[in-house]
Amino acid sequence: MNIQFTWSDEYSVGNEVLDSQHKHLFDLGNRIQQAKPSEAKAYVMSLYKYIRLHFTEEEHHMEKIGFPGVDGHRMMHEQLITRLNDLSDGFTPDMIDELARFLHDWILNHLLKEDHQYFVYVRSL
Ligand SMILES: [Fe+2]
Ligand SMILES: [Fe+2]
Repeated sequence: MNIQFTWSDEYSVGNEVLDSQHKHLFDLGNRIQQAKPSEAKAYVMSLYKYIRLHFTEEEHHMEKIGFPGVDGHRMMHEQLITRLNDLSDGFTPDMIDELARFLHDWILNHLLKEDHQYFVYVRSL
């Protein structure tokens, strides 16, 4: 299985830094699936670090704009980190498909629906 992650403008959250982080995560998602088995673990670790950094910055952004859903959104990030923790702990290269599905899910359910909410909010100000 190979899921191609392709950026589209509908993914934009109206903030250049956060958009570029989302793009970088798409890119990592593509590269992880092309990685040699010996490199896979290192990719997963860098993905994990990058997602944590992204979530922290996104939470700061939501606080800065006064987004009322920030607490709920932070909890969703924690749940995603827990899932990613489970995946990266004891990660083996045959788990790449599972990781790709996690990223795909994250794009469809989190980025497009939840991240989109603070974009809708900031546009309504
Ligand atoms: Fe995000
Ligand atoms: Fe988010």
